[in-house]
Amino acid sequence: MILVTGGSGFIGSNFILGMLSHNSERVINLDKLTYASNQNSLRSLANDDRYIFKQGDIGNRILVSNILAEYKPRAIINFAAESHVDRSIEDSSSFIQTNIVGTHNLLECSRQYYDYLRGEAKARFRFLHISTDEVYGTLGSADKPFTEENQYKPNSPYSASKASSDHLVRAYNHTYGFPVLTTNCSNNYGAFQHPEKLIPLCIHRAINSREIPIYGDGSQIRDWLFVADHCRAIEKVLDKGRIGEVYNVGGWNEKTNLVVVNTICEILDELKPRGDGLSYKSQMVFVADRPGHDQRYAVDATKILSNMGWQPKETFESGLLKTIKWYLSNTDWVAGIYEKQMEEGLDD
Ligand code: NAD
Ligand code: TYD
Repeated sequence: MILVTGGSGFIGSNFILGMLSHNSERVINLDKLTYASNQNSLRSLANDDRYIFKQGDIGNRILVSNILAEYKPRAIINFAAESHVDRSIEDSSSFIQTNIVGTHNLLECSRQYYDYLRGEAKARFRFLHISTDEVYGTLGSADKPFTEENQYKPNSPYSASKASSDHLVRAYNHTYGFPVLTTNCSNNYGAFQHPEKLIPLCIHRAINSREIPIYGDGSQIRDWLFVADHCRAIEKVLDKGRIGEVYNVGGWNEKTNLVVVNTICEILDELKPRGDGLSYKSQMVFVADRPGHDQRYAVDATKILSNMGWQPKETFESGLLKTIKWYLSNTDWVAGIYEKQMEEGLDD
């Protein structure tokens, strides 16, 4: 059994669906069900007895300890986090609470559980922490992509809270010999991503005749990775990773935001042309830049390639086409998010 936290979010639900598609191992998903979650993503597992869902907070010591004592997982994969930079700029309290205090609680409960394990169960136990390339800060155009040796220089409250959680994870290995692994991944895209993030936001707004906001001049660069490729990397690291080590995961696929949005509009122009013959590009508007906006992220994924043979399968073109087709066929999934947000009094 594996304990996944935050499994009702974007990457967690892709991970659970991917794992259960080729593995008989059971999965327990502990998720607080914040605005970012969507229970419809895992609806296909409703009658699958390999899947167990618990609603709750990784910061709840009694709940986490009880789950560990009852289900005795052989591994914990920590996806649970507040993950949106813009929200962290508006109000970072929940980022501090979940990403730092929550991760600390999860580590503390897991360490106590690990202390009681014996023999084979102890030898194979792993705590895999899912993190981001944003902890390394921003790159200039001539800088080399981030390696695992780069200094941490987080610039947003989100990346600072993730950096802090990474440090705690590292310290639990160094101080207590707790068997941790960390992955730092670049920007993901694919099915089940909340439409507050650039790619699904652009698709959703385009097909609903709304403006597509480009922050600043749109020259910022992200290294995009298809989510299924990230999930395969996580499985590899869990299987083959060396305790205490960090693995950077990336797509070798740097694009400016303008290129990303223009490409989405061109694909939509083909798949679902606007009635008036204009391109979806006509909906793009330049808006005020994000404060402290990181200019460029790029990941050097040489270590995971040379140590484990992992590399992305999907190109940006093939992954983006799959993603756009998925959103066009799953408008109900997106509508469900906005209905839930309206019930909770949140806007989009
Ligand atoms: P997400 O925002 O889509 O999902 C986060 C999930 O965590 C949600 O289901 C939410 O309900 C749950 N959650 C939040 N607070 C919780 C708490 N206190 N207790 C239990 N559950 C809680 O995020 P995502 O995009 O799936 O990202 C997952 C992880 O991967 C995060 O740690 C993020 O930092 C990291 N990451 C994301 C990306 C990306 O591009 N999305 C890239 C690199 C790393
Ligand atoms: P986002 O998807 O929020 O991911 P992150 O900030 O973690 O990289 O944003 C990706 C890039 O797109 C980032 O440079 C900000 C930019 N962006 C826009 O230009 N417009 C938008 O509406 C959003 C949400 C993001």
